Amino acid sequence: MQLTPLQQKRVDELLAKMTLEEKIGQMNQLSPSLVGGFDVSFEELIEMAMDGKISQEELHQKFENAERDYQEDNIRAGLIGCVMLQDPGKYNELQKIAVEESRLGIPLIIGFDVIHGYRSVYPIALAEAGAFDPDLFRRTAHMAAKESRTQGISWHFAPMIDVGRDSRWGRVSEGPGEDPYLASRFAEAKIHGLQDGAYEDAKDGTERRENYVAACMKHYVAYGAAESGRDYNTTSMSISQLHNVYLPPFKAATEAGAASAMASFNDLNGVPCTVNEYTLRRTLKERYGLKGFVVSDANAIRECIDHGIAADRYDAARQAANAGMDMDMGTSIYIEELKNAVERGDVSMEVIDEAARRILSVKMWLDLFDHPYITEEAMHRYDKLPQEHVALTLEAAKKSIVLLKNDEKVLPLKKDQKISLVGSLAASPSEIIGAWAMSWKGEDCVSILDGFKNAGADVKYFACGGPDREINDDEIAQAASFGDVIVAVVGETTAMSGEAASRADTTLPGKQRELLEKLLATGKPVVTILMNGRALALGWEAENLPTLIEGWQLGIQMGNAIASVVFGDYNPTGKLAASFPYVTGQLPIYYNHTSTGRPAGKFKFTSKYIDAPTEPAFPFGYGLSYTTYQYSDLTVEESVEAFTAKVKVKNAGNVAGTETVQLYMQDVTASLVRPVKELKGFTKVALAPGEEKEVALTLKKADMGFYNNDGEYVREDGKFRLFMGGSSAETLMQELDVRF
Ligand code: BGC
Repeated sequence: MQLTPLQQKRVDELLAKMTLEEKIGQMNQLSPSLVGGFDVSFEELIEMAMDGKISQEELHQKFENAERDYQEDNIRAGLIGCVMLQDPGKYNELQKIAVEESRLGIPLIIGFDVIHGYRSVYPIALAEAGAFDPDLFRRTAHMAAKESRTQGISWHFAPMIDVGRDSRWGRVSEGPGEDPYLASRFAEAKIHGLQDGAYEDAKDGTERRENYVAACMKHYVAYGAAESGRDYNTTSMSISQLHNVYLPPFKAATEAGAASAMASFNDLNGVPCTVNEYTLRRTLKERYGLKGFVVSDANAIRECIDHGIAADRYDAARQAANAGMDMDMGTSIYIEELKNAVERGDVSMEVIDEAARRILSVKMWLDLFDHPYITEEAMHRYDKLPQEHVALTLEAAKKSIVLLKNDEKVLPLKKDQKISLVGSLAASPSEIIGAWAMSWKGEDCVSILDGFKNAGADVKYFACGGPDREINDDEIAQAASFGDVIVAVVGETTAMSGEAASRADTTLPGKQRELLEKLLATGKPVVTILMNGRALALGWEAENLPTLIEGWQLGIQMGNAIASVVFGDYNPTGKLAASFPYVTGQLPIYYNHTSTGRPAGKFKFTSKYIDAPTEPAFPFGYGLSYTTYQYSDLTVEESVEAFTAKVKVKNAGNVAGTETVQLYMQDVTASLVRPVKELKGFTKVALAPGEEKEVALTLKKADMGFYNNDGEYVREDGKFRLFMGGSSAETLMQELDVRF
C-alpha cells in the first residue's frame, strides 16, 4: 500500500480537523447487531442454540430474517469507521450518511470475509496452496477483489496465512498448509492479487479503483499452533520457533504491501495476540513496517477479560490500544472507553493519532474519499458470471487436485465405462464450496455428479452413505450391479472444518470407512475421491484403497475439475501442502520437524511410536501423475551470492505431464537444532513423454540462515545439505561445506 504525497497530505489535513471522539470513531468497527423479528430475546436464542434446542440451520434462518441495527445515528456522528456488510444497496445508503451527513464526511470502509472467492468460489486455501503456483494464487485473489468491490466491499479479511501443522484444528482449511516457505509465497501472491490493481489501469475498461481492495492478513499470529488443535486455544513457543515458522508469511505479506492485519484470538506465551505489544507494535509495525492498520478479531478485545488479562472493558481497551491494536471489531469497547482512557492519561494522544492515521490512509488509498458510492452498473456487473471467472475457478480447481494412489492404473477411466457414483457428497452442489464462503450462488455450482454428466460419462448416482448418513446396503447392491467401476466420494461436510470445527478424531467421519469396506467387498474396482477440509488420518485408506484422489473442497467448478482428472483430460499436477498422518495420534505432523538425538530407527529407544509409524501416510509435497518422473544428476554450483542446484527430470511415461520440482535445505551443524529439511524453492516443468530437462533452482546465501532466540536472523558457516525432488520424502541430496 503506497500513498501519493497528495494523499498523505489530505490525511494530515483531515487529522488536524478531527476531534478525539471522531478519531476513536474511526477505530470502531460495527458488526450490525440483530435486533428484531425474533420470537424470543437474542440472548435466549443464542442459549437455545448452545443447548442444542434449535439447530444451527434454524438459528441461521432466524438471523437471516432478523432486522439489523446499523446504528445510523452513530455513523452520522462520526463514531463508526467501518461496517461489516455485503449488501450493495445498504452500502450506498450507509455511505451516504457517512459522507453527506457526518461533520467531516469521512467515508466508511466495508470489510467482509472473502477468503477463497466472492461469487466465483475457488478452492479452499489448503487445496489451492497445493498447486504450488504463485501466479494462480495472485489471479484468483484479483478476481475476488474485482467481484467484491462491485458490491461495496473494499476490504477483505484475507488472506488467512496461518501455518497449520495440526489438522485437528478446523481452520487449517482456510490457510496454506504446514510450510512457512510455501505459505510465504502464497501470502505475498495473494497481497499482490488483491492490491496491485491500485497501480495500473485495468485492461477491461473498468475504473482503476474497481480493481483492488485492501488485504487483511490473518490471524496474527501463531493461531495455527493452538494447543491440541482446539480452536481459540493457548499457544506457547520459543521466540525462534515463532520467527522461523509462524511469522514468515506475515513478514512476506507485509513486504508485499499488505494494507492491514487481523490479530488472532489465541494468547502467545501468555499474552493474548490482541494486546501483544511484542507482536503488534514491535514486530509488525516497527520491524516489518506495516503501513496500514491492525484490527482485532471479532469480540477479541472484550475476551481479554475472559483470558484473565484485563480487569474490565476499560482495562481491555487500554491494553489493546497501547499494544498497537488500531481497530476494535464489534464490541464498541473503544468507542465507550478510549476517550476516558486518554483523558486519564492511560492512553496517549499519539496512540490514537497513529491508529486514526493508519485507518484514514487505507481509506484514502482505496479512493473512498473521491468515489464513495458504487454505481448501479457495477452492482450488476457480475449478475451473469463472466466466462473468464468460470475458467479461472476451473483452472484453480484442477491444479489443486492431488492424485494419492493409482496402484492398479484404474485411472484415468474411459467414458464408455459404466460408473456408479457413490456417497452423498458426490451429488451435493453445496458441499463442494468449503468453509468461509458466503457469497456463492447455487446456480453456479457443479457437483461431482454434474461434472461427470457434463463430461458425457455413463453415470448413475447411488447415495449409499455419507459423512452424516447411515449406510444403505440396497443402494450398495444396486451400485455394484450397475457399474463397471464404482467411484466413491467420501470426506467431510463443509461444517466439519473451518472456525470452531476442531476434530479430536481426524479419520473419515461417520460410517464412511465401513462404506468403503463394503464397496471393496463387491469386487468391482473402486476409485475413491476425498472431499475434505483438512489432512485426514488415512492409515486404513492408504493401505486398503488402490485408487485415491484428494479432491478437497474445490469451489464452484469442482465437479468439472474432478471429471477432467478422472477421465484423463487433465493430468494431475497438485502436491500436498500438508502431511497426512496414518492416525490422529501422530498430530502435529509435518515434514520439517527438527532433528532429535535419537531419530526413529529399528532400535527401541529411538523417537517413535510403538503403535504407529513415525512418518506420514502421505508427506508434504507429495502427489502423483498419470506419468512418472525420474530425477538424476543433482549438481550444485556456488557463486558469490547463491547456490544453484540443478537436477535432470525425465518424463518416463507415455503421457505429457507437469512436475513440481522442489528444493530443500538442511543446516546440518548450527547453534540451534534445525529442521531435517526446509523447503527453499520450487518450480514447474512441463515434459512431453520421454522428454528430459535440466531444472535449476537458486538458493540465495542470504536465505540460508535462521532466527535465534533473540529473534535475530543469523547465518552460520558449516555443513549444509541441499535436496531436490518431487516430494519432501523423495529427494536427491548433495552435501556442502559453506563459508558465508
Ligand atoms: C474469525 C475471522 C473473521 C471474523 C469476521 C472471526 O470469528 O476468526 O477470521 O474474519 O470472524 O467474520
